[in-house]
Amino acid sequence: MAKDKITAPEIQARKHVGPRIVVVTAYDATMASLLEAAGVDVLLVGDSLGMVVQGLATTLPVTLEEVCYHCRAVSRVARRAHVVGDLPFMSYQTSPERALDAAGRLVKEGGVEAVKLEGGVAMAEHVRRIVAVGIPVMGHVGLTPQSVHAMGGFRVQGKTDLAKERILADARALEAAGAYSMVVEGVPTELGQRITDAVSIPTIGIGAGPHCDGQVLVSYDLLGMYGDVRPKFVKRYAELGVAVVRATEAFAAEVRSGAFPTDAHSFGVSSPRAVRQSQGEPTGSSPIVVGDPASFPPASDDDA
Ligand code: KIV
Repeated sequence: MAKDKITAPEIQARKHVGPRIVVVTAYDATMASLLEAAGVDVLLVGDSLGMVVQGLATTLPVTLEEVCYHCRAVSRVARRAHVVGDLPFMSYQTSPERALDAAGRLVKEGGVEAVKLEGGVAMAEHVRRIVAVGIPVMGHVGLTPQSVHAMGGFRVQGKTDLAKERILADARALEAAGAYSMVVEGVPTELGQRITDAVSIPTIGIGAGPHCDGQVLVSYDLLGMYGDVRPKFVKRYAELGVAVVRATEAFAAEVRSGAFPTDAHSFGVSSPRAVRQSQGEPTGSSPIVVGDPASFPPASDDDA
């Protein structure tokens, strides 16, 4: 493990010492490297990959093998950020033993340092079983997307007094079962604060107001790459979707006009094998750059 790797106990301690925990989803090595260069604390390989990578309407069809595959890509390049793998629907709910097997696979085959699962009271034994063998568990309460049909859609949870008490009980059950942190999704601000005050482990909010101990967003949402859907809790910090379309349009226009490739992007007879230069690529027309790319790639450090 790299010496500056962020660990589960460090994440847990942030509740008391700060700063707030920054969590972003990642599904592939290139994006993981970019997000790490930006200094995120946690890379979550979420089952949201079903929606933003696979084009599905819900996360329900995502399989453990698919999550494992994406976890491998992310954990391979994450030197500093703590990597969490999401247990997909029906890979863990049926029994604590099944949950342990699935969590073990994400650690052994996916290279993650912790797993996340949805649910509270009903999943407490499952969390206990996983934690008992030394795998840190991040819980997830409130709007739990794997229960989309029971919730009647992706709706804000905890609006009635009874629903609030149930979600608080879920959060307390996760803490008691040994979870080191939990995502709190889609609840009113006041409930997000009550949960954060009620438990001694960090809460990581998404649509849960500003009082949580950290915040998580889906990378495709915060970068403005995911369709036209704009949930209220998402802030788009860039419009990379537009940049991708513009850049690709420019490429297409140059291919069609014959402006690309020029000699600068072609090989002469003197260097037939120099397919890719080690110190940068030749450049043609000005690339579309959003912000300052100087901080990428991140400086490497020792594994010792
Ligand atoms: O699957 C996911 O990406 C998540 C986050 C949005 C919390 O569960």
